[in-house]
Amino acid sequence: MTHPAEPSTSVTEPDAWHRLCPGSQLQNSAEACVFDVIYDGQTCTAFAVRYQGVVHAYLNRCSHVAMEMDWREGHFFDLTGHYLVCASHGALFRPGDGVCMGGPGRGPLIKIQLQERDGWVFWQSQYRLRPVVF
Ligand code: FES
Repeated sequence: MTHPAEPSTSVTEPDAWHRLCPGSQLQNSAEACVFDVIYDGQTCTAFAVRYQGVVHAYLNRCSHVAMEMDWREGHFFDLTGHYLVCASHGALFRPGDGVCMGGPGRGPLIKIQLQERDGWVFWQSQYRLRPVVF
């Protein structure tokens, strides 16, 4: 097992940490970093954003219908900059915890663990969530 303080790029450990992007790439309530993952055996996208100084990541899958949410790749925030909005039917989610706050969403977004360290953002794979290996 890799301790969170020691990020790893191993793809074999279920709880490994994977380098995602420089922390400076994520600005508050701005464009996300979109990345590919394997969730329950299916390749799909995920995204990381910064909100009020803290980075958060979710599977790019709406809780209303299992569709990608961004209205343009990497654009998830609504005009207020305080909610993530699904482009399909307008469900609103809190950036900090993915909880649905309005619209037809049927629960929270699927959260992905992140850590920001030494100027970089890392995401953590889990039993059902794996990196895509080329
Ligand atoms: S698919 Fe997201 S609100 Fe309907």
